Amino acid sequence: MSSPGPVGALSEDSNHSIRSLVQKSQDAREQAYCPYSKFRVGAAVLTSDGTVFTGCNVENASYPAGLCAEMTAISKAVSEGHTSFQAIAIASDLKDQYIFPCGVCRQFMREFGLEWDIYPTKSDGSYQTMTLDELLPHSFGPADLSARRNH
Ligand code: THU
Repeated sequence: MSSPGPVGALSEDSNHSIRSLVQKSQDAREQAYCPYSKFRVGAAVLTSDGTVFTGCNVENASYPAGLCAEMTAISKAVSEGHTSFQAIAIASDLKDQYIFPCGVCRQFMREFGLEWDIYPTKSDGSYQTMTLDELLPHSFGPADLSARRNH
């Protein structure tokens, strides 16, 4: 039986779609440009209209200039006109641990709402389902910029 789940999120019976998104994040991991960390990451983001954009980490000799896989995937989507998302899968080579998005990536995702699913995965393709609200509680978002202020 399917359960309703959060608005815009893949329902529990979308196992097949989730697995396909996970596979795409693993495929994107193959393109990781990570000569410094040697830590490959791939991401696949699913837009509300069902389009998938993928990304990998892109490192730089000036280390802080590097990009995470999630940011690459989301930026590709936004630059093609997509700002509404259902889910993102993240893949690394970690064997025994799920790859969770870094803090900056969580904030990057949060810009586009809290009601979408994050699938951190292990290298065998197993995944967890989390909402962005769980990963980044009490977050700061676009609406806060126009909230009542004293000055
Ligand atoms: N990395 C990501 O791409 N996403 C994350 O959420 C965690 C970290 C990348 C950044 C860097 O290229 C490498 O992993 C090691 O930190």
